[in-house]
Amino acid sequence: MNFPAFVYRQSSYALLAEALLLVLFCGTIDWLSGLEVSMSLFYGIPIMFAIWFGDRKSGLLVAILCGITWWWADILAGHVYSHVWVATWEPASCFGYFAFVAVGGAALKEKHDAVRARIALLEHTQRLEREIIEISEREQRRIGRDLHDGLCQYLAAIGCAAATLRADLLRQDLLEEAAVAEELAELLEKGVVQTRDLARGLVPVPMEEDGLPFALEGLATSVARLQNIDCSFRVQGEVKIGDTSAATHLYRIAQEAINNATRQGHANRIRIALPAEGPLATLSVADNGHGLSRTAAESPGLGLSIMRYRARLVGGEFAMNEPDDGGTRVVCTFPQREWSMEEEDAAA
Ligand SMILES: Nc1ncnc2c1ncn2[C@@H]1O[C@H](COP(=O)(O)OP(=O)(O)OP(=O)(O)O)[C@@H](O)[C@H]1O
Ligand SMILES: [Mg+2]
Repeated sequence: MNFPAFVYRQSSYALLAEALLLVLFCGTIDWLSGLEVSMSLFYGIPIMFAIWFGDRKSGLLVAILCGITWWWADILAGHVYSHVWVATWEPASCFGYFAFVAVGGAALKEKHDAVRARIALLEHTQRLEREIIEISEREQRRIGRDLHDGLCQYLAAIGCAAATLRADLLRQDLLEEAAVAEELAELLEKGVVQTRDLARGLVPVPMEEDGLPFALEGLATSVARLQNIDCSFRVQGEVKIGDTSAATHLYRIAQEAINNATRQGHANRIRIALPAEGPLATLSVADNGHGLSRTAAESPGLGLSIMRYRARLVGGEFAMNEPDDGGTRVVCTFPQREWSMEEEDAAA
């Protein structure tokens, strides 16, 4: 049981009653301990208790009650003062101490509350940021799916119709019209390819449990083919990503790391790896380029901070270093999670 949370949940009357009990307890101990031992320090406990879990007003009230109780215990113990000014000074200094604890405690509590409020605001902002990113990624996936399943199929169907029309026109010896139909069919085919590429960019990772390894394999192959460099991917063990959203974040990290390796590091060899070990899995992208230290000052860029942010979103840690044999290595270590289809994706 969380003690502070339990006390916070109580009503203000219950808190005040508990503080009073503490005051009485301190007063009794003060009385029983006699005149030789001073117990005034301990009265700070009920005052702080009332301020911390209640408010400034109840703290001040408890401080006054502490003063009265201390005085009462002092009289009951039979304290005889040698001078009037000592009899005045002693209670006054005690009251002063209690008032100081009350005011100081209240200031401390205010500071503590302000820090808590700031942390709560920060957490709220981070949650909002995360939700905005999740929503935008989900929207992108939805648009990608619609493009693939809607427009792509529609263009393909028109393309088929244009090809049939061309064949009919050829049969009727209408060569000019047949050429136009052929051009139309070719244009439609290009349209299908472009729409499919667009859809693939919006849905880079298939919505399946092993979607990420599959997508990274495809990414490595296309980088190797299009940029004419040695780019390979290797998966080790059974990697559990959790959901499409996490898989997409990891894919985007790999994409940016590859972009940096070719654009900034001018690498001609890139190794993408996805090994799983126990509760953790790692995505690493290592290149044989110029290395961070030789290029890092060139531009502030956004890529690194976005990669770091995405790593945080999947509950992982991001690191970038220069291995001894040169180049740059980007590493994102993340916790493995059982696969679950997100509501939105499952509904699609
Ligand atoms: N693989 C790498 N090899 C060499 N230098 C790198 C590599 N990755 C990052 N860097 C260095 O770190 C800098 C910051 O990278 P970052 O991705 O944040 O920015 P950018 O790529 O310059 O711009 P942006 O990503 O916003 O288009 C790069 O400009 C580059 O100097
Ligand atoms: Mg970059």
